Amino acid sequence: MPPEKVVLSQGRGYDIYFRSLEDIPKLLSTVRVSLQRCIVISDSNVAPIYMDLLCDRMKSSMGESECEILPIVLPAGETTKSQDSLQTIYDRSLHWGINRMTPVFALGGGVVGDVAGFAAATLLRGLPLIHIPTSLIAQVDSAIGGKTGFNHACGKNLIGSFYQPLLVCADPDTLLTLPDREWTSGLAEVIKHALIADESFFEWIELHLSEIIDRDQSVTATMVQRAAAIKCRVVSEDELESGPRMILNFGHTFAHALERSLGYGTLTHGEAVTIGMRAALVLSGRFLKEIELDRADRVLSRLPVPEVPRSISIEELTRAMATDKKRTTEGLRFVLIEKIGRAYTTVNVEQVDIEAAWRSVLPR
Ligand code: NAD
Ligand code: GLY
Repeated sequence: MPPEKVVLSQGRGYDIYFRSLEDIPKLLSTVRVSLQRCIVISDSNVAPIYMDLLCDRMKSSMGESECEILPIVLPAGETTKSQDSLQTIYDRSLHWGINRMTPVFALGGGVVGDVAGFAAATLLRGLPLIHIPTSLIAQVDSAIGGKTGFNHACGKNLIGSFYQPLLVCADPDTLLTLPDREWTSGLAEVIKHALIADESFFEWIELHLSEIIDRDQSVTATMVQRAAAIKCRVVSEDELESGPRMILNFGHTFAHALERSLGYGTLTHGEAVTIGMRAALVLSGRFLKEIELDRADRVLSRLPVPEVPRSISIEELTRAMATDKKRTTEGLRFVLIEKIGRAYTTVNVEQVDIEAAWRSVLPR
């Protein structure tokens, strides 16, 4: 399978390969990176399964004594997207000894990718970064496009940078060990890509929805590659989110408010995005035809999400929305759907409509 590509200004860009972890040394030879001293950052679920395999492959391609690796394993989960994790990475890397050629490998899901990416962006003002995404969200979304960062008590992803990797290597087989809950969470971002940018992909998802949810291998590879290709296209158009890239935030203004209000990690990011997209569809109702809204909602309603606790109030969620990064001087910016496959952004949304959208997804 040929790689997907992110093509950026000034001749920059990188490839996204869907290949076995075994092939990593070969893929690394396509970029300028030294494996003499490397940092591999992972989490406590992913490292026991894949860390040794990755390190062994790198060492055997170089010769055991020619390749030194510092493995850093962080606790699994959204709470790892914190300043404390960054401090751990900074302390361990700097005490171990790094130079500007030392590559950082992010081996894991979106949490590892975001934190390791920010560490790579900031250590010595920038180290080479290679993403090895192992969750569905990471393979179709977070490892592509260069957003890195961590959460703050005031809101999600409030501290971060744009920092592009040299290469992304996604091994489809790593998805086989992903828990079911994380699989359906990842499907939220897949469906998001179809809803905002590719009607024919959405039709394909409708057609294969049961197989997709059941993780039928005959369709998943196509699905992952098509979803990743959409992300590559959008990022290539607008690296720094000054315009078209904003549509990737469909459902996220609601989702981030939920994640923060419930406490990070209560819902998975994908579950929050599923609920957020259903709310954003209701808010899209001014232009979106009812028949399209129903089609979109029918697909999203197949993704299992835990019920949001009744204790959570619309006032609290509205307060949490106020610190969203997407806030402008004119107000909160929402991504809405005009028709399946086409999204737009707007700040012209009435508070009463936002509240109605919240009510449509919260327990009665
Ligand atoms: P995650 O990294 O927490 O991974 C989900 C869970 O699956 C974790 O418990 C992890 O240990 C486990 N896991 C990952 N791969 C596994 C595998 N192959 N086998 C077994 N277990 C595995 O979260 P995620 O869902 O991958 O990503 C969500 C995060 O990504 C959120 O913080 C979100 O904000 C961020 N995100 C960032 C971007 C971006 O553009 N940077 C885009 C989307 C999401
Ligand atoms: N996940 C949103 C973006 O990458 O822009």
